[in-house]
Amino acid sequence: MISRIASKYPSDNNAIIYEGSCYDFVKTIPAKTVRSIVTSPPYNIGKEYEEKVDLNKYYEEQERIIDECVRILTDDGSICWQTGNFVENSEIVPLDILLYPIFQKHNLKLRNRIIWHFGHGLHSSKRFSGRYETIMWYTKTDNYIFNLDAVRIPQKYPNKKHFKGPNAGKLSCNPLGKNPSDIWEIPNVKNNHVEKTVHPCQFPVGLVERLVLALTNENDWVFDPFLGVGSTIIAAIKNNRRGLGAEIMADYIEIAKKRINLAFDGLLKTRPVNKPVYDPNNPKINLEYEELSYEQLPLFEEENSFRYAK
Ligand SMILES: C[S@@+](CC[C@H](N)C(=O)[O-])C[C@H]1O[C@@H](n2cnc3c(N)ncnc32)[C@H](O)[C@@H]1O
Repeated sequence: MISRIASKYPSDNNAIIYEGSCYDFVKTIPAKTVRSIVTSPPYNIGKEYEEKVDLNKYYEEQERIIDECVRILTDDGSICWQTGNFVENSEIVPLDILLYPIFQKHNLKLRNRIIWHFGHGLHSSKRFSGRYETIMWYTKTDNYIFNLDAVRIPQKYPNKKHFKGPNAGKLSCNPLGKNPSDIWEIPNVKNNHVEKTVHPCQFPVGLVERLVLALTNENDWVFDPFLGVGSTIIAAIKNNRRGLGAEIMADYIEIAKKRINLAFDGLLKTRPVNKPVYDPNNPKINLEYEELSYEQLPLFEEENSFRYAK
């Protein structure tokens, strides 16, 4: 079978996974090639895939990859750097604040600091439990792609009309839906989430899809230097874009490839970004997508892949 996932750039394939460090891979990508970069880098908190280093060293490493990301970005492109906190002795360093000067150095324009709010996580005893992370959305220039209509969300009162003035009787809100705002309520990928794999820190595919739809056009390249289990490439493929990324951990690469192949076949089940968050006080919101976890299912047996069909 011809692989649909290439291992190096350039390729005619719509998905590329470089099995190694992003610092090596990014050098092989020409300037102004990718329309969007969506990533969640290691936070330097000692996860299984990272070595905890001095914060100055972490900053330098992030600077090295961000410099390269700016180089390979098209002039109308965007960078979305999704981060949380570096934590030590219950003291936090918000990584978006730490890294801001690197983007400023390149004169990138910060368009939104999106708050990604979620319901689950560690319970702190020495500070309030952390329940949000941020996505810093930067553009390279003032002339950038922003397809707002592609990511509108349902209006709360879609039939509301102007009751006076020249527009009396006409709809007062956009029938295509409303701007999703800069606060996104999206469940994080914990054990009861349909997208859960062995990776400890996946971001939800729906979160990336909203960015990809808004910030790129069809066939554009979307790059994730820290690919993990492939969520960014999956979001790209699902929306007729092309995705490329690097990952150093063999286990994650294997899972990424399997998930991406399921996505190519339209068989990977992901949580729709606009699906209401489960509310125990509102039984109308069902658990369809939360009930079964990725780990509970025999995912990688071909004959069972139908279980991921929509
Ligand atoms: C926060 S996770 C990203 C998870 C990803 N967003 C997903 O949904 O699966 C960071 C990832 O970066 C990978 N990583 C760490 N250093 C790397 C490097 N130098 N090059 C490529 N990947 C790296 C880690 O193995 C880890 O999977």
